[in-house]
Amino acid sequence: IRTAIMISGGGSNMAALIEAARAQDYPAEIVCVIASNLSAGGIAKAKAAGIPAFAFDHKLYDREGLERLVHTELEKAGVELVCLAGWMRLLSPFLIGAWHNRMINIHPSLLPKYKGLHTHKRAIEAGDKEHGCTVHYVRQAVDDGPIIAQASVPVLAGDTEDVLAARVLVQEHKLYPHALALVGSGRVRVTGDEIAVQPGTA
Ligand code: GRF
Repeated sequence: IRTAIMISGGGSNMAALIEAARAQDYPAEIVCVIASNLSAGGIAKAKAAGIPAFAFDHKLYDREGLERLVHTELEKAGVELVCLAGWMRLLSPFLIGAWHNRMINIHPSLLPKYKGLHTHKRAIEAGDKEHGCTVHYVRQAVDDGPIIAQASVPVLAGDTEDVLAARVLVQEHKLYPHALALVGSGRVRVTGDEIAVQPGTA
């Protein structure tokens, strides 16, 4: 499945998806990367992997104006699925509507817990013993939508926000390629807000 990745930062999740997609039998091809600012570290990583990268300075556009430019690039590249990976701009109903059930996102919490920001800090402060990450279909409500896959990690005594975030990030880099493979191999069925995922190979 022809896949685009949208980033705003370093793109470590993007890099994990690009690496996974190098496998001959991987059921997704990364055809382009789109960045919401010109200084995203992920742009250089995409180019080094030979993947076209389009960077926009989001400060030059209103929300929907940027999204219309992004949508045009996605359509020109024949994209069939969009992976948000550290994309830090709220999306308007325009792009979310245009990519309904064709746009997924990774969020660093065990949704529905801790939607929004500072998820690791919130898990520690709540005294949770478990935390993790989620790949889900994007809906208008932020960090909400049918869940494709999740991975959990223990919260250990003395964990700082950074230590826990790093433990979760390791799982993100495994979970996202796994979730994209489930979608690309046709193992995920979404109807309305109901989702069925056939267990894929590990
Ligand atoms: C990660 O915590 C991810 O869960 C969130 O953005 C953070 C940075 O991701 N979406 P990346 O290193 O830019 O992929």
